[in-house]
Amino acid sequence: MASTKIVLGAIFIASFYLSASLAFPPGHHEGAYPVGNGPVSGLSPDYYKFTCPQADEIVVSILKKAIAKEPRIGASLLRLLFHDCFVQGCDASVLLDDTEEVVSEKNAIPNKNSIRGFEVIDEIKAALEEACPHTVSCADTIALAARGSTVLSGGPYWELPLGRRDSKTANMKLANKYLPPPNATLHRLIKFFQRQGLDKVDLVALSGSHTIGKARCVSFKQRLYNQHRDNRPDITLEKSFYHTLALACPHTGGDNNIRSLDFVSPSKFDNSYYKLIMEGRGLLNSDEVLWTGKDPEIAGLVKSYAENEPLFFEHYVNSITKMGNINPLMGHNGEIRKNCRRVNQEI
Ligand code: HEM
Ligand SMILES: *[C@@H]1O[C@H](CO)[C@@H](O)[C@H](O)[C@H]1NC(C)=O
Repeated sequence: MASTKIVLGAIFIASFYLSASLAFPPGHHEGAYPVGNGPVSGLSPDYYKFTCPQADEIVVSILKKAIAKEPRIGASLLRLLFHDCFVQGCDASVLLDDTEEVVSEKNAIPNKNSIRGFEVIDEIKAALEEACPHTVSCADTIALAARGSTVLSGGPYWELPLGRRDSKTANMKLANKYLPPPNATLHRLIKFFQRQGLDKVDLVALSGSHTIGKARCVSFKQRLYNQHRDNRPDITLEKSFYHTLALACPHTGGDNNIRSLDFVSPSKFDNSYYKLIMEGRGLLNSDEVLWTGKDPEIAGLVKSYAENEPLFFEHYVNSITKMGNINPLMGHNGEIRKNCRRVNQEI
C-alpha cells in the first residue's frame, strides 16, 4: 500500500518536472516569454499544499499589521509584482541589492526613490523561512504579498498559481527599457504591454491598480507645466483638479511631494479610478490617456469598468493572473533564495 503510494507519487512528481522542463527550456533569457493563463504556465495554486500549507496565512498576518501601520504599503507591494514581472519575468530580480556580481534594478529610473516595500518582504520571507525552511521562493512571496494586499484593500481575490523560483541575476538595463514611463502615449503603453504578451484589456484592467497608492510630483509634473513642450498644462486636466495639483507641486522644487493616484478613495481598491479619469482627474498621463487617447476599445473598457465594478474585478483577476505567469523560472532553473536581497552563497 504505502510503497504503491510512493511509486505513484514519484511518477506524479517526475511527470510534473518533465512537463515543466519541456514548457520552460533551461536558461534565463533576456526579455519576457509570455506564457499566458491557466495550466500551461506549469505553476499551480497547490504548489505548497504539502510543503508549506500555512504560507498564505503567514503572508496575510504580516500584511495586516503592515497595512494597519501604513495603508499605502499595500499599494507599494502590489506595484512590486508589476516591476518584478515586466523585467525577466516574475523571478524576484527586483529584490536583489547591488553586489559585485549584481547591478540592482532598484537603481533603474522607474524604481529609484520610488519603489518600496522591501522591508515588509524581508519580514514575510523571514517568517516563511522560520515555518518552512528553504521552501517558498521570493518570487512567490512577492505574488502572495500582492494578492494579499489587493484583498486587504477591498479588491478581488484570485487563485494564485505558485511555484516560481528566484533568479540569480538582475537586469537594470531591462528595467529601464521595459517599465513604462508615466508620460508615455497610449500607443507606447500598448506596445509595452504587448511585449509582455498582454493585450489592451490587460492594460486597462491592470492600470486600475492605480486605485490605490501614491505618486511623486516628478511623475506628473510635465502635465502641469509643459505637457507638449509648450510651457502649457495638459488641457485634458480638469481645471480645479489642476489647481490643487499645482499647489502641491510647484513649478520648481517639490519633486518628491506625493499625491494619491485616486484621491477619492486612496487606500480602497475599487473602481473609482475609472470614474476619475472620465472626469479629467486621473493623476498620471498614462492614466488619463486611457480615456482621452482616442482608442475606442480602450475608452469603452474604461467606461464599462466605471459603470460596473464586478466586471472590473473579473477582468482584473484574469489580467493579474496573466501578468503573474510571465516567464517564471521552474524545475532546476533559478533557486530558492534564503535572503531575498541576495543570491545564495555557493559552498
Ligand atoms: C500602465 C502603465 C503604468 C505606468 C506608466 C505606471 C506608472 C506609475 C508611476 C509613475 C507611479 C508613481 C511612482 C512614483 O511617483 O514614485 C506608479 C505607482 C503605482 N503603480 Fe503604476 N504604472 C503602470 C501600471 C501599473 C500596473 C500594471 C500596476 C500593478 C499591477 C501598477 C501599480 C501601481 C501602484 C499600486 C502604485 C502606487 C505605489 C505606492 O503608493 O507605493 N501600476 N505607477
Ligand atoms: C517623458 O519624460 C522624459 C523625461 O523627462 C522626456 O525625456 C520625454 O521626452 C518625455 N516624453 C514625452 C512623450 O513627453
